[in-house]
Amino acid sequence: MNKILITGGAGYIGSHTAVELVKAGLEPIILDDFSNSQKSVLGSLEEIIGKPVICFEGDCNDKDILEEIYSQHKFVGVIHFAAFKAVGESTSEPLKYYRNNVGSLVVLLGFMQEKGIKNIVFSSSCTVYGQPDKLPVTESTPRKDAESPYGNTKKICEDILVDFVKSKAGVKVVSLRYFNPVGAHPSGKIGELPNGTPNNLVPFVTQTAAGIREKITVFGDDYDTIDGSCIRDFIHVMDLADAHVKALGYLDKQEDNFYDVFNVGTGNGNSVLEIIKTFEKVNRIKLNYSIGPRRDGDVVKIWADTTKINTVLGWTPQYSLEDSLRDSWNWEKGLSH
Ligand SMILES: NC(=O)c1ccc[n+]([C@@H]2O[C@H](COP(=O)([O-])OP(=O)(O)OC[C@H]3O[C@@H](n4cnc5c(N)ncnc54)[C@H](O)[C@@H]3O)[C@@H](O)[C@H]2O)c1
Repeated sequence: MNKILITGGAGYIGSHTAVELVKAGLEPIILDDFSNSQKSVLGSLEEIIGKPVICFEGDCNDKDILEEIYSQHKFVGVIHFAAFKAVGESTSEPLKYYRNNVGSLVVLLGFMQEKGIKNIVFSSSCTVYGQPDKLPVTESTPRKDAESPYGNTKKICEDILVDFVKSKAGVKVVSLRYFNPVGAHPSGKIGELPNGTPNNLVPFVTQTAAGIREKITVFGDDYDTIDGSCIRDFIHVMDLADAHVKALGYLDKQEDNFYDVFNVGTGNGNSVLEIIKTFEKVNRIKLNYSIGPRRDGDVVKIWADTTKINTVLGWTPQYSLEDSLRDSWNWEKGLSH
């Protein structure tokens, strides 16, 4: 069975991807330092996949841990999730973000070159598009100056990958530009575990529904959108996980020194107010929310053109927005218990 190293595999997207890898007949080898995840995720993962999970605790900036893993498991590909992702914190502690997000990729690529490991899928983000001039965004929509050090790390990492491929290092790379991952595994056993106050809308919604937060503030209802609130492309985390499996399969078919990039979204934009109302409807819960002022730096609207991933990877989302919001709530209810 082919082994795949998943850095940050105990995190939100990584843990769901581990499930999809097993389903596809691949063996995930997790490397995580648990800086933004909990070890209990591993037990839940084992319940879902029905067998032990191989996990190493360590920092993927540390070449020695990569050596140790490789000496025991000759992985043939890497999915690189490990990174810090709090946009606000990245503004006050930029070096922490550059060191971890950029530094870990550099260490990992050096290691891959040394061992002749070819395939890597990289977690990029639609944040590289900033506020696009034209919607929906395609992969050739120009990237804009990043709004935050976090966003800049994604842009820099994409550039490093392109340069590395150009240098004929022998690697094959897919960057996946995620839109807004939401939802949880339908079993309710794994999901998003935000540290402290959530930065993302849906965990804030579920925590408000659970009574952990008093209310949701919608940052502005006077934008040029259908109902005045900001618009995003919300993608179920299981669909996103599946995109990684398809990306690995695609890399297998390529020649050395290959780079490609895909948007991973649904192709539909939904407003913040639509999310709140859909959540209330599918889960039959009233949410406490109010309209506040606009928030500095918010992108007003963005959604993906998914033609490329649909046609080239043969990937289409299987879950609806309703599924996402039902699964998110199911997960939150399990956590509260
Ligand atoms: N969730 C989103 O909204 C979103 C959107 C676009 C892109 N991304 C990117 O996707 C990736 C995964 O995001 P997520 O939402 O699953 O985040 P997450 O924080 O839940 O998962 C990241 C995991 O990486 C681990 N980690 C961090 N630094 C590490 C290091 N140096 N060594 C080992 N482990 C380390 C953390 O402990 C955590 O388990 C990140 O690169 C993130 O920037 C996320």
